[in-house]
This record gives sequence, C-alpha cells and structure tokens, in this order.
Amino acid sequence: MNPDTRSFALGSYTSHVVFYDSVSPLSISNASLVVCDTHTEHIVETCGGAAHAPRIVLTPGESEKSMPVLESILRTAVEHGLSRGDTILGLGGGVVTDLVGFAASVYMRGCRLVLAPTSLLAMVDAAFGGKTGVNFAGYKNMVGTFYPAAEVHVAPSVLASLPEREYRSGLGETIKNALLGDEDLLGLLEREQEAVSARSPQVLREVIQRGLLVKCGIVEQDLTETGIRAFLNLGHTFAHALESVAGFGTWTHGEAVAWGTAKAARLGELLGITPLAYRTRIERLFSDYGFRLHAEASHERLIEAMWHDKKLKDGRLYFVVQSGVGQTQLVPVEPETVREVLRD
Ligand code: GLY
Repeated sequence: MNPDTRSFALGSYTSHVVFYDSVSPLSISNASLVVCDTHTEHIVETCGGAAHAPRIVLTPGESEKSMPVLESILRTAVEHGLSRGDTILGLGGGVVTDLVGFAASVYMRGCRLVLAPTSLLAMVDAAFGGKTGVNFAGYKNMVGTFYPAAEVHVAPSVLASLPEREYRSGLGETIKNALLGDEDLLGLLEREQEAVSARSPQVLREVIQRGLLVKCGIVEQDLTETGIRAFLNLGHTFAHALESVAGFGTWTHGEAVAWGTAKAARLGELLGITPLAYRTRIERLFSDYGFRLHAEASHERLIEAMWHDKKLKDGRLYFVVQSGVGQTQLVPVEPETVREVLRD
C-alpha cells in the first residue's frame, strides 16, 4: 500500500482507504469484474488495468438498486467464472457502491470488494463503512449486509465532471461530518467557502480526507450501529421524512440533510442541549453554501414519515442532537416538540 493509504479495522475486516492527491487519476490494476454506470464509464477507461476487465454498465439512478439488478451482477460473475478471491470493483456514486457491495458480500459468501466512489457524497459517506443494500418492497435499503470493502479509492480528480447540484449535495454530508468531530474542518469550510465551492485542488483533498476520516473514526468503534454509529444520522430523521414527503428526487439527499441538520440544531436548542450560538453557526454555514433551510411540507405528513424511519426505538422517536462540535447524543423526543421545531 502506498503512503497515502490508511487502514481501518472494522470488526473482523480490514478496510484500506487510498487517498489520491487532487489531480491524480484513479489507478486500479486488478479487477475481475467492474460495475459502473453510463455516467462513470469514462472513468473506468482511464483507470488502469481495471479498464480491461469484464464490465457491467448500469443506468444511472436509484431504480438500479434492486433485486433484479443484483441478480444480473451475480449471474455475470458466475458466467465469467469469478472465484472467492477475485475482485469486484464498484465505480460510481452511492447507488453503485451500495449495490456492488451487496453483490460482493453474497457472491460465494463474500468475494473481494474494491470501491471507487465518484461522487462527493459517496466519498465522505456511502463507500466507506460496509453498509450495503438494495431497495425492496417499496422501502429504501430494506435488504442488505455489513460488508466493508477491502479497498476504497478516493480520487478527488474524478469530481471534475460531477454536476453542481450533486457536488453540493455531498457538501451537505461533509458539513455534517465536520460537526460530528472535526472543528478544524468546520473552520476550513467556513473560511474557504469560495475555494471549496469551486472545487479548488488546494482544498479539495483536505476537505474530502478530513470529512471521511470523521466517519472512519466512528465506524471503527461501531461497525454494526449498536451505538455511536447512529450519530452519523445527525439531521437524517428530518431529512428522510422530507425526502419522502416531497417525493424522492425533489430534494437531493445532501440538501435534505442540510435542512434536517439545521432542524436538529433548533430541536437541540428547544431541549436545552444546543447553545443558540452553535445553532446560528450551523445555519449560517449551510446558508453560505446555498442550502435551503426552509421547506414547504405538511408538518403532519413529515411527522408521520418519521414514524416509519429506522430511527424509531421502543415506539419512540429518537433524534441526534449536539451541544457542540463532536458533542453528540441520541435523545427520545415527543412528537409535540418536533411539531414546534417544524412550525418555527
Ligand atoms: N450513512 C450512515 C452510515 O454509514 O452509517
């Protein structure tokens, strides 16, 4: 492994994260099967030996995260005679990394998995940490496994062709990760808003690396989300409800997370946990990056959607709230308090 590689022990797995500098192209020598989509196929062509491996090219979009597509990947692996030691490479955004992770985890009870995330959101969140899955019976990520990739290749240069809205969506999760544990990253995002928004090579690698390292530190302690991994869901109870009520795709995931994280700060304030100055800092940062902090959606429908979210425990709604950067807790909240936050 080269010097830019960090290794993480995740349960009984080891995951190596290869951090490239801001301008170097992806380079992956060894893959027995590559799965990408039509938006990311051009990256496969230039990424080294993997360009010559058998390839499955998906249609971009959430609808590919399905059982039939999973089956077609597994069937192709069988047809090409892949063995357990062979590598499946998933190169794409979160849809590809979730789907290919699931396929690799069940193929021969687990073959070698390498992921190359091509969206900012997949770099700082989806590709690392072993959550895999497909949508099933009308629910997102209803079926899946915990199966960390042997290698995750993080190359900021592949973001050059990412559409603006997708990039900003990734910044929503990046800011959330900074709030969870990196005051220096938060300061960098505040000071260098112009350079970060312009994807300047001077800051891009540091922003991505630090954003991902926050997640690595959390997942290393709790791969299967029995404890602190739930903190990564900061803003997500609000966000998932908004995405579902507004209709999937109306708000990108990162836009909804930005709105939801601001709402979680207001909730924490109402509960006497989040200081006003911290809430204001969070709102200002999201606004500076152009995120909408106001959503037109029925409050009752939002609350109803929250009851269907995976964060429900013992019949109560739980929310992640903070008293400061890296000072996070999970608390039960009464629906009336949530109503008050939504009314604000
Ligand atoms: N995306 C949240 C997690 O990986 O736990």
